[in-house]
Amino acid sequence: MHTEIIKIDMAVPDWDKQLDKAAEVLKSGGLVAFPTETVYGLGANALDEKAVKSIYKAKGRPSDNPLIVHISDINALEALVGSIPAAAPRLMKAFWPGPLTLVFPKSDKIPSIITAGLDTVAIRMPSHPIALALIRKAGIPIAAPSANSSGRPSPTLAKHVIEDLAGKVDIIIDGGNSMVGLESTVLDIIPAQPVILRPGGVTQEQLRQLLGDVGMDPAITNGQSSASAPRSPGMKYRHYAPKAALLLFQGGNDSVAAEICRRAALYINEGTSVGILATDETKALYEPSMHLSSRMLSLGSRLKPEILASNLFRCLREFDEKAVEVILAEIPESDGIGLAVVNRLMKAAGGNIIKV
Ligand code: TXA
Ligand code: MG
Repeated sequence: MHTEIIKIDMAVPDWDKQLDKAAEVLKSGGLVAFPTETVYGLGANALDEKAVKSIYKAKGRPSDNPLIVHISDINALEALVGSIPAAAPRLMKAFWPGPLTLVFPKSDKIPSIITAGLDTVAIRMPSHPIALALIRKAGIPIAAPSANSSGRPSPTLAKHVIEDLAGKVDIIIDGGNSMVGLESTVLDIIPAQPVILRPGGVTQEQLRQLLGDVGMDPAITNGQSSASAPRSPGMKYRHYAPKAALLLFQGGNDSVAAEICRRAALYINEGTSVGILATDETKALYEPSMHLSSRMLSLGSRLKPEILASNLFRCLREFDEKAVEVILAEIPESDGIGLAVVNRLMKAAGGNIIKV
């Protein structure tokens, strides 16, 4: 399949006209990758079972992992959900459009391929102007997982989507960098006390301010799938992962850096190329031990977890570009969106955590 790349510069007047073709492609059952404020999404008509099937195929996604339905207008909600739980209006008012996905009871209109057979449906209204304009022009709800091959780090730039999906989708819209850099928070609002199923762009602290207490799926903090079935099925896979093996190190900054340097030297002796994922506060600790076949990237300052979030997936992909074979990474603090950063690192490492 030929994939057309459409680059959009929102500084140009009438930039949204460039979305007309993509909207037509969506209406006629095709696949369009587009930027959102979290990560790039791979969109199809949510009400067209065949189109949705082709999303799973292009990504190589397991069919038991349900998709988020994206809308541009609150009036679209009613047809998609069975009922509107009590917490929904406040949450939508505070956080939509934006990086919060809400889990509702589903209506009969939603094909079961979207929900992987669940009787619930996850819905979000993205805030990225290109995403909103595209959904509005298409005039249909858009099912969209992250636009990566299943298991790979989510794309925050069009070039990441091109790497994974060129030749497998009709159109890729290049709208520059995704600002948040990791996915939306998934919140189950069906229980009386809503539960975070996936930490993301809207933080637990922000949700608590609005709702009082919110629950947290235990699988989020232990980095593993819970013994029982995870309530957000996508969270059970090794996910967000670079091609390189990823090892995480937990402990005080100095002891973590010392252990990472020790192991890096061992790998390099064996002829294995090493990547070190550091932060601005710690990068000087590694500089003396850097070697020709080691690379270091900083996620940014630990004082700004939003910056760590915005750089995480790009850095993991950059190590792959540099053909790094093993990545040794610090675990930063988990305040605010830092919780989502740590969660994605743990998933990407598939449980390889070394306490020092
Ligand atoms: O930020 C985002 O949410 C991005 C952009 C493109 O909008 N999308 C995204 O989709 O991350 P995806 O498919 O990569 O992740 C969807 C997550 C998975 O963990 C999935 O299990 C969960 O949402 N999910 C979808 N429907 C659900 C449902 N009915 N109940 C519980 N979890 C659900
Ligand atoms: Mg994904």
